[in-house]
Amino acid sequence: MNIARRMLKAMLAAVVAAEGIAWFATAPRADGPEELTLPAANALQAQPAKWGGVGGCAAAACHGGEVEQPRGEYTTWISRDPHSRAYSVLFNETSLQMARQLAGGDAARSLPPHEDRRCLACHAPTGPESERSPQLVGDGVGCEACHGGASEWASTHATIDWKSLSPVEKKAKRRSLGMNDTRDLLVRTQQCVRCHVGEGEADVTHDLIAAGHPRLSFEMGTFHDQLPKHWSNESERRADRAFEAKLWALGQITAATAQYELVASRARLGDGIEFANYDCYACHHELRSSSPRPVARPGDTPGQLRPLSWYVPDGKTWGLFTSEDVTRALDTDDGRAAHALANRLPNWATEMSSAKWDRSMIEQILAERAAAPPENSSWDQATQWYLAMVALERARLDHFDAPPTGAAADGDQQVLAQLQAIKDLLNFPGGDAGHVLNSPRDFDPQAFGDAAQRLNAAIQARKASGDGP
Ligand code: HEC
Ligand code: HEC
Ligand code: HEC
Ligand code: HEC
Repeated sequence: MNIARRMLKAMLAAVVAAEGIAWFATAPRADGPEELTLPAANALQAQPAKWGGVGGCAAAACHGGEVEQPRGEYTTWISRDPHSRAYSVLFNETSLQMARQLAGGDAARSLPPHEDRRCLACHAPTGPESERSPQLVGDGVGCEACHGGASEWASTHATIDWKSLSPVEKKAKRRSLGMNDTRDLLVRTQQCVRCHVGEGEADVTHDLIAAGHPRLSFEMGTFHDQLPKHWSNESERRADRAFEAKLWALGQITAATAQYELVASRARLGDGIEFANYDCYACHHELRSSSPRPVARPGDTPGQLRPLSWYVPDGKTWGLFTSEDVTRALDTDDGRAAHALANRLPNWATEMSSAKWDRSMIEQILAERAAAPPENSSWDQATQWYLAMVALERARLDHFDAPPTGAAADGDQQVLAQLQAIKDLLNFPGGDAGHVLNSPRDFDPQAFGDAAQRLNAAIQARKASGDGP
């Protein structure tokens, strides 16, 4: 890994939190049909195939070999992957406190989190709910949560017959037997989003957040980067040099789709207005356990709701969302408008995943976005813009066979230094006792705007020197 890449990796690690896809002004604006087929409540539990559990994959000759080696997938998962702890965290102090809070402080009435369907939906999915057993639940987020219930393929997917199939035949076979094609980046992203944004009753609502659940702010590039891999990400990136850019784009589209389906199902299932549809910092300036009432940001009209901007792709250039669409989606209480909004996106995602992302396209998108940072932005918008710049810069560097040298390397260093400066502005102040959740209370849109202009200048200078876009 060259130095520039390593620095970018470190930058991703600290800022996790999401808006804005700004490119392709000409994106088709396809108003999907407004049919009212909302997703099955908690489709995670509605997968047809039965699950066998992680134990079935863990034998040394199957996936229980050495960590980070082929056939060591189980070993990597159990020793490094946070998903293997997803069930056990339901016993920790935060979970217990959440349960008490959700029961209105009445410990006697509170349901243990490890028995609460609301929590198990994401922390210990088991396929069909009727199949739920202590052993399956104990796996947490096991192999089948991403790869699909294995009852139809567990015994055959390692046979000589299976291995002798052509890639096209394998794809068809996987699909017919319920094995998710996780190599396909769109399929992969769709799996992550089910739990990391939510789906149907698998939902981190404001009630859960106020009780102590972390806010879910999913961005695919960042989360994918942080997941300890049981496969070779290096060879994926070598095989497809636009990997990082695609992952980011598909993440934006897929997460927005999931968010608006969630808004639709909240309208259908919930009673009343769901605060988690709205910008947190319109109501909260800081999240202190000592402040009894949410405090609005200076300049905000108290009580004026803004849509949560993390999952609103930039309408100006994307052409798919306008702020009126988003407001309408949140204002209609039968969920139809939100569902229609979500419906516009999947075709676009398919198009993105098959597009040829060559270096000049990536550099063009990078330069266009750099020149148009969000104005007077919220922290969410600024952070999404930053994460997009990082993803595109990473994809750009992946297009070089050898790390650039001389003047070209200097240009890259300038760009990296400006990215680092922006990241410093986005970090949450942390560490204060008394904060139940850190919040970006010191975020300054003006300082961000200035830093974004310096980044743009560095990118334009690199371009002018002929070494960059
Ligand atoms: C929509 C899926 C979803 C639901 C529903 C859900 N969670 Fe989570 N939970 C997550 C995800 C994803 C994370 C990781 C958050 C992150 O880092 O973005 C998480 C993180 C947590 C954490 C922090 C874990 C840690 O390592 O510190 C706790 C504790 C937790 N959840 C408990 C609960 C409890 C208790 C419930 C039920 C009342 C619940 N969750 C419901 C998806 C969910
Ligand atoms: C959070 C989602 C997730 C979980 C949980 C998960 N995987 Fe994977 N797995 C992936 C992704 C993504 C890939 C990369 C794409 C691919 O090769 O299919 C992958 C790849 C693999 C591969 C191919 C490795 C290679 O070198 O090509 C195997 C085998 C595998 N996983 C087995 C397992 C086993 C066994 C478990 C449980 C112990 C597991 N996975 C849990 C997402 C997951
Ligand atoms: C079945 C639900 C589910 C699926 C599918 C899923 N996750 Fe998770 N993920 C969780 C839960 C729950 C946690 C919290 C576990 C904990 O803290 O112990 C988590 C934690 C994580 C974390 C650690 C976050 C942190 O703050 O430390 C990363 C990174 C992550 N997931 C990435 C992914 C990616 C990438 C995918 C898709 C390839 C994926 N997840 C698919 C439920 C899921
Ligand atoms: C419409 C205004 C509004 C919005 C938007 C809103 N909240 Fe709240 N929040 C409240 C109110 C009112 C309370 C206190 C009552 C309660 O616990 O529900 C609260 C309580 C909380 C608490 C508990 C605070 C404490 O001191 O115990 C947390 C944490 C929280 N919200 C986080 C969030 C996050 C994160 C978001 C964005 C996803 C958000 N809120 C969006 C109004 C809002």
